[in-house]
Amino acid sequence: MEQKPAEQKPVVFSGIQPTGVFTLGNYLGALKNWVRLQDDYRCVYSVVDLHSLTVRQEPRELRENTLRSLALLLACGIDPEKSVLFIQSHVHTHAELTWVLDCYIPFGELGRMTQFKDKSGAHPENINAGLFNYPALMAADILLYRAASVPVGADQKQHLELSRNTAIRFNNIYGDTFPVPEPLIPKDTGRVMSLQEPTKKMSKSDINPKAYVSVLDRPETIIKKFKSAVTDSETEVAFREGKDGVNNLLIIYCAVENLTIEQAEAEFAGKGYGEFKLRVGEAVAEHLRPLQERCERLYADKAYLGECYRKGAEKALAISKRTLEKVYKKVGLIVP
Ligand code: TRP
Repeated sequence: MEQKPAEQKPVVFSGIQPTGVFTLGNYLGALKNWVRLQDDYRCVYSVVDLHSLTVRQEPRELRENTLRSLALLLACGIDPEKSVLFIQSHVHTHAELTWVLDCYIPFGELGRMTQFKDKSGAHPENINAGLFNYPALMAADILLYRAASVPVGADQKQHLELSRNTAIRFNNIYGDTFPVPEPLIPKDTGRVMSLQEPTKKMSKSDINPKAYVSVLDRPETIIKKFKSAVTDSETEVAFREGKDGVNNLLIIYCAVENLTIEQAEAEFAGKGYGEFKLRVGEAVAEHLRPLQERCERLYADKAYLGECYRKGAEKALAISKRTLEKVYKKVGLIVP
């Protein structure tokens, strides 16, 4: 089939915070999907460093983590020729549109965000205005590129809803300005759960590091973590309700080996949990190895990374500036 020219494809926007650790859950649930979407959409992906400032960061670490995140996205297969890949703070329109949107988002709506309530509960010493405003910056990210679809995890759905409401409110006042973005929930990836408490989502902020696998963990560490994964008191490797631990391992195994659940069940028929867990660990370590090598190589090549983020920022600015100017005009600012 003929490929559509990039300009005619619907736009996807998504952002990822430059935290030090990306879990296997982030990778299988989000990043792999980002890579796939590049074929059918005009993708705009950003390392959202401004969002990270809402919690206190060590400056040197934040810089390192931002570059490492960029290297990881490239290593996963985000193609900077096909997609727009940039660092949020390099494109000034984000902060600027945020200010305008802030003036159209009711205080109460921001206060109802569960993530704000959770995070301010977790950091009572630093409940800052940025933490409160966070969803306005996210709305600006999305609306600047006129995104039709936004791949997000369940934890960001409420923020996306706020972006939609903001777009609709603005359009109602000023006439059609922003397309209203739809959430894009990947269909085939079940959520990756904690290896220690498989009814909970895998999270890098888990106090027990055995609960999550980082995509940059060493192979031995990965295998060890899978060996100590929690299963159940039965013996059968089967995907069934109530077998949360086994189900999670099967989902992970199928994702990295490109198998169906039935194929994986057949492979482990009659085999014990010990062998199963070891095999899953090995498969994950093997799957991540080339990615880790690419990431290391890219991270070491600062000249290439620099070229990549500068070009990305240039493209992002060209697109987002048009939207910002349109908004400025609509609200009555003089565009010089
Ligand atoms: N808030 C998102 C997260 O923490 C990251 C993000 C920022 C984002 N801007 C976005 C996601 C725009 C989707 C679209 O995961």
